[in-house]
Amino acid sequence: MKTIYSAIQPSGIMTLGNYIGAVNNWRTMQSDGDNKCIFALADLHTITVRQQPEQFNKNCWSFYALLLAVGLDPKKSIVYLQSHVKEHCELAWLLNCYTYVGEMNRMTQFKDKSAKHADNINMGLMDYPVLMAADILLYDTDLVPVGYDQLQHIEITRDIALRINNIYGDIFKVPDGFIPKVGAKIMSLQDPTSKMSKSDTNPNAVISCLDTPDVIMKKFKRAVTDSDTTIAYDPQNKAGISNLLGILAVAQGKTIEETLKDCEGFRYGDLKVRVGESVIEMLRPFQEEYNRLIEAKDYLTACAKEGAEKAREIAENTLKRFKEALGYIL
Ligand code: TRP
Repeated sequence: MKTIYSAIQPSGIMTLGNYIGAVNNWRTMQSDGDNKCIFALADLHTITVRQQPEQFNKNCWSFYALLLAVGLDPKKSIVYLQSHVKEHCELAWLLNCYTYVGEMNRMTQFKDKSAKHADNINMGLMDYPVLMAADILLYDTDLVPVGYDQLQHIEITRDIALRINNIYGDIFKVPDGFIPKVGAKIMSLQDPTSKMSKSDTNPNAVISCLDTPDVIMKKFKRAVTDSDTTIAYDPQNKAGISNLLGILAVAQGKTIEETLKDCEGFRYGDLKVRVGESVIEMLRPFQEEYNRLIEAKDYLTACAKEGAEKAREIAENTLKRFKEALGYIL
């Protein structure tokens, strides 16, 4: 049995990229009976960038409902809010004392975010990877499905775990990161050489998984392609068309080859409409479930509470093991 752990931040919008590349893959892993799955809303990570409290609160509800709407099952998996399990902060502190400032300074995401939020380079932003390491290590995680941009954080998690194990013996399981194959790279619709990002400021670049059918269609129709006319899968030279083909393949549950065959004789405009229709269909049941859940606050609260209790039980044990090794009086 493998323990799988991942998390998403309740910030911005959940994009089609998050849906296809992350949370929908989590659902698939949950269905594999041999996996023990733990999924969190990384709401402590979110305040490394300044949040407006009312909007933040709304986002937390919304993202939690989104996780359940995708089909993460609070009975089968643990689906919880990071801030509900205090062990995350406590372990992060302890791990801090085994992490070097130089290491954190070199993190790509820290450098990017420091440039982007130059007026708020807070300690939390720098410490972000250590909190993430705490998330992962608390649950004796085997596998962490993430996007490419998070692989460096998994590497540092492994380094910290190994460093501590070398001093104190077998304290932490050393996790592996992996990139799920399906939808690993859903690109911006306006700049198909960069990833579809939840913080993109151009709304046409990003599909929210809660966009209405009209809006979804409009955005696909405006997607940037190229001045050629042939539909071919070639991410290097035809990034826009390849992105559309990739999305269409996932939305239809087909391979790229099958999808290319479906599109024989299509012009670019036909492809865009086909992608739009398929994505709208893919998201329809999920959006209906979301609309139901977001009104059911009592149910969401109960699920979050149950998730946190189950998570805490595991987290407490791991933390105790480490503190004991460090010499703390328990
Ligand atoms: N940093 C991750 C992201 O933004 C979210 C995250 C927080 C996470 N804690 C995690 C992912 C633990 C995997 C495991 O995508």
